[in-house]
Amino acid sequence: MKTMDRTCLAIILAAGEGTRMRSSLPKVLHQVGGRTLLGSVLGAVRAAGSTAIAVVVGPDHDAVAAEAKRLVPDAAIAVQRERRGTAHAVLAARDALARGADDILVIFGDTPLITADNLARLRDALAQGAAVAVSGFRPADPTGYGRLVMSDGKLVAIREHNDASDEERKIALCNGGLMALSGRHALALLERIRDDNRKKEFYLTDAVALANEMGLGAAVVEVEEDDVRGINTKAQLAEAEAVLQQRLRKAALEAGVTMIAPETVFLAADTKFGRDVTVEPYVVFGPGVTVDDNAVIHAFSHLSGAHVGEAASIGPYARLRPGTKVGKGARVGNFVELKEATMEDGAKANHLAYIGDGRVGENANIGAGTIFCNYDGAQKHRTEIGKGAFVGSNSALVAPVSVGDGAYIGSGSVITENVPANALALGRVRQTIKEGWAERLRKLKAAGKKKSSGQP
Ligand code: UD1
Ligand code: CA
Repeated sequence: MKTMDRTCLAIILAAGEGTRMRSSLPKVLHQVGGRTLLGSVLGAVRAAGSTAIAVVVGPDHDAVAAEAKRLVPDAAIAVQRERRGTAHAVLAARDALARGADDILVIFGDTPLITADNLARLRDALAQGAAVAVSGFRPADPTGYGRLVMSDGKLVAIREHNDASDEERKIALCNGGLMALSGRHALALLERIRDDNRKKEFYLTDAVALANEMGLGAAVVEVEEDDVRGINTKAQLAEAEAVLQQRLRKAALEAGVTMIAPETVFLAADTKFGRDVTVEPYVVFGPGVTVDDNAVIHAFSHLSGAHVGEAASIGPYARLRPGTKVGKGARVGNFVELKEATMEDGAKANHLAYIGDGRVGENANIGAGTIFCNYDGAQKHRTEIGKGAFVGSNSALVAPVSVGDGAYIGSGSVITENVPANALALGRVRQTIKEGWAERLRKLKAAGKKKSSGQP
């Protein structure tokens, strides 16, 4: 049967305590590319065609279970009460295993750089008859890894570093940690595993020797060291981020995005670009950003949870926060911040503005220094600006408030009441002129007579 026709249960081990992260956050909830480590693994597992997913968590990792459920609502959550080894952890998901699948994938929750291709190749090995398939890689320093013991070109055992002889420690090919088990034999193999090793743990890796004893085949699928990088420290988290950013930048360039300094651009795993998009240096993309064809993101902009429409121009120095929608040809200039706000097609806010919880109609213009006063200290309110309206510079729009289509707001206004379409609203003190005042002041000063009132 071809891989894509086979059912697949993916079991993700996420019971690690992660104390070396020096953090109160569970290890797998740290992020790379704007996604949790767990989310990254779930993404790969889904892309590799899993039909069922089980996540094994530690006894007090409700937050990990919640993240798994948020991302994959029908994921099964299994709790490993005691940390007694990787095979013991897999057996915590016994219910899911008992429901059966053609392929069982076991993945560690702290290896966020695994690819769908890695997993697909492991599944292919099962489709070709292996009962166990493991990922092999050749690390620069193999200390700590399980060694893949081969004989006559066949994988016969995995020896954990602690239990390996000096001779076995010379083996360069190591276990990357990803494993695929044939659903038909998985439970039988797992139940035979014993804790007869230095660490007194139930090692998943013993499945290889047991498969050989049972006359079943074991296969190795070689992967890159980067693919199976595990994360135990903040330094390793940063290294994984660097690898992921390289991959994301490469993919964006291959998809046709123009970046003259891609090494300065930070992308999220889910950033989406249309055709002929330009991203200038030093732009940061948080999660949930889509940029349509021909848009330009100028330097030093920060975007997250935002949709940038066709041929729109963002920045330099713009901040698009979650819930932002920028229409076709719209312009968001320097030091403009948007949040939960829509700029309709052709709308402009070219300098220094805060547009929060509102909508700016088609072709409307927001002058420099305009603020949507969306927060009254307790609640957020909306501001609606009509089509073709003109908001003069340095205006404060005190929400909830609306400005009708084609209306004008005089500069420096504080707008607290709705403005009808095509009206002019002025909400500021009228200017007064005192003819000759400055001249009189200078004369008084020259005569050394300073009046206490300061009024010449
Ligand atoms: C494991 C492999 C080793 C491989 C290495 C690659 C085993 C026995 N060894 O070693 O061959 O070279 O990964 O990185 O599998 N976990 C649980 N519950 C447990 C024990 C572990 O959920 O009781 C989870 C951990 O959270 C972690 C993963 O399983 O995500 C791997 O466990 P870890 O103890 O880090 O195994 P390694 O010693 O790294
Ligand atoms: Ca590890």
